Amino acid sequence: MSRFWRAGWVGLLGWIVAAGSTGWAEIREAGVWWLPRNVSHFGHEIDFMIYVILWLTGITGILVFSTMIYFIVKYRHRAGVGAIHSHGNNTLEVVWTTIPVFIFLALAIYGNEMWGRMRMQKPPADALQVAVVGEQFGWNVRYPGPDGKLGKMDSHKIGKDNPFGIDPNDPDGKDDFTTYNELVFPVGHPVQLHLGSKDVIHAFYVPEFRLYQDMVPGRVYDFVWFKADSTGHFQLACNQLCGQGHYKMFGKLSVVPEEEYQAWAKGKAPATIASSAPMPANTSVANR
Ligand code: CUA
Repeated sequence: MSRFWRAGWVGLLGWIVAAGSTGWAEIREAGVWWLPRNVSHFGHEIDFMIYVILWLTGITGILVFSTMIYFIVKYRHRAGVGAIHSHGNNTLEVVWTTIPVFIFLALAIYGNEMWGRMRMQKPPADALQVAVVGEQFGWNVRYPGPDGKLGKMDSHKIGKDNPFGIDPNDPDGKDDFTTYNELVFPVGHPVQLHLGSKDVIHAFYVPEFRLYQDMVPGRVYDFVWFKADSTGHFQLACNQLCGQGHYKMFGKLSVVPEEEYQAWAKGKAPATIASSAPMPANTSVANR
């Protein structure tokens, strides 16, 4: 390789490492070399499964590669030594096919069962209902007011002036309040999400919750729920390339004690359904 190309590759590698580490450092609370902290009650099982797979594949990888290297060295070409012709061993073949089949079956059954509990099981009845609707490029968030009920969402009504697709006459929605790129959840309290999209496919992704869900426009996803086990500040990052501003589509997400959540919610004004109301004339700069 010429000196020119070598310098180019080293430069590119250095750039990737630098860009990657600064990018992660902003988002991550801690180190970038291992899994982020887990906060959700489902996350322990997901992490357990990741570790089981990592150990299985890690040990298998070490065994396979060390055997291969041993054979490469042992049966290397030597003058005067003839090659050995092997036609395989049926017993060995059956054994090393059957064992992985059972391991894969066990992983698939356990994973499926876990998925069922995460996404098919109904959340507890006291779950906090929160609507999150993605748009290019930010997160519309809607919380229930004192009645604890979220206005009913209709994916067909989601539009420019009605990001949540709420019926303006629905009494449940009157006291709801909304935020933009700001999410606060009470710790230890189940939260049921109602996810939607205004324009293109976005994805709700919080690594610390071990939670990922695509949001396809025209649908409202109401089967995603979780419970945060500990408090902290996280980032809700969009995880589908959704346009030029994708990189900046993130929301601040906090998990706080219940009282702190109640105080925060109390401080928010109820939502106005139509955001298209004209601004009062006297607020414009020209009239001052
Ligand atoms: Cu929304 Cu990427």
